[in-house]
Amino acid sequence: MSSLAAERRLEGHAETLPTSGSDDASVRLLGTCKRFGAVTALEDATISVRRGELMSLLGPSGCGKTTLLNLVAGFLAADSGQIEIDGERVNDIPTYKREIGMMFQNYALFPHMSIAENVGYGLRMRGIAKPDLKRRVAEALALVRLTGVEDRRPHQLSGGQQQRVALARALVISPRVLLLDEPFSALDRNLRASMQIEIKEIQRQLGVTTIFVTHDQGEALSLSDRIAVMFEGRIRQVGTPDEIYRRPADRFVASFVGDVNVLRARLDSVDGGLAAVTLGRARISVSREPLTRVRPGDRVDLFVRPEQVRFAQAGEPIAVEGTVAAHIYQGDHVNLYVDAPEVCASRLLVRSLEPDAITRWPIGARVGVSIVGTGAIAFEAEPDQRGGEPRSG
Ligand SMILES: Nc1ncnc2c1ncn2[C@@H]1O[C@H](COP(=O)(O)OP(=O)(O)OP(=O)(O)O)[C@@H](O)[C@H]1O
Ligand SMILES: [Mg+2]
Repeated sequence: MSSLAAERRLEGHAETLPTSGSDDASVRLLGTCKRFGAVTALEDATISVRRGELMSLLGPSGCGKTTLLNLVAGFLAADSGQIEIDGERVNDIPTYKREIGMMFQNYALFPHMSIAENVGYGLRMRGIAKPDLKRRVAEALALVRLTGVEDRRPHQLSGGQQQRVALARALVISPRVLLLDEPFSALDRNLRASMQIEIKEIQRQLGVTTIFVTHDQGEALSLSDRIAVMFEGRIRQVGTPDEIYRRPADRFVASFVGDVNVLRARLDSVDGGLAAVTLGRARISVSREPLTRVRPGDRVDLFVRPEQVRFAQAGEPIAVEGTVAAHIYQGDHVNLYVDAPEVCASRLLVRSLEPDAITRWPIGARVGVSIVGTGAIAFEAEPDQRGGEPRSG
């Protein structure tokens, strides 16, 4: 059974489920809800984060990512549902007893303390004796490659170095779970990229279960063992980056993660688990699963990634005809935007690796686009697109 199927199976059984016990779940939410007045910040969240895994929570602003993290940390209490760490119900256990390391975007260092005092703070609170404390602070600083700055104050470090101190402070207590809430959003692009690599390496090295909040899909795809995609307080899909990108569970996930072209096509026929969709002169095979309510002849929305389309070669069936409207040069590739208003509400994005793409397909050129490979996915057409359409069949 896929992890998604397992997670789905859990839904609706939250009350009767045993604690995780023998399996390898490190953090588990079962049917967890959190409301703030009229706002449901988290709705019936069921998810297992495996031991040692880096799970990202990915979704747009306000979808409930920080709320979920705060519930795991114990900063918020759940209205209903269960929260477990290492198989133990922690709903009523206070934050300081949950053994959690945290690093938030604005989790400022104490300005009046030295770096060593900042990093050692959690250990002092736990009454760790001096020699042991000193050794562990040194280890944590070595881990984030900051040995030698122990006596400085935070303002004497760069932004990236301060971020690494915050990471050392989170790790020094040997947490069972590391919670990171958009930890790099204040950093510039280059620094952010190097911190991403660094955090992934440290996380692997320590094998610490990590929940990483981001609204940056590139960050989630590159860092995560698995991603939970969230929208409007709900977990919409949990899967590996590849599963999320190539087998999105619904049109929200398909649109939110990665670039995608949405093309108006028509369901032609169904055969077992597959369906055939027609678009222009092309016939495209897709999974039937998202189309159970659609009948042959009905409109569907075909979701195609830019790498799944190309300018049609001789003999290839043309799926879309249109006019080149814009180019964006990207060094190793060129993004070409094609106007095809009959089939595509926005411009169709074609990614070309040809070095002469801009001169070969200049603005205004009429082009035929074909669909390559078997990666396309179709979903039910959105109601407004179907509205007023005479339904055949
Ligand atoms: N303390 C609070 N009181 C009232 N509403 C809240 C509170 N905290 C969060 N919310 C609401 O709950 C929803 C989820 O908020 P949350 O902070 O979890 O979102 P998020 O996914 O972390 O967003 P962002 O990416 O902007 O940080 C939002 O609608 C938010 O306004
Ligand atoms: Mg947030």
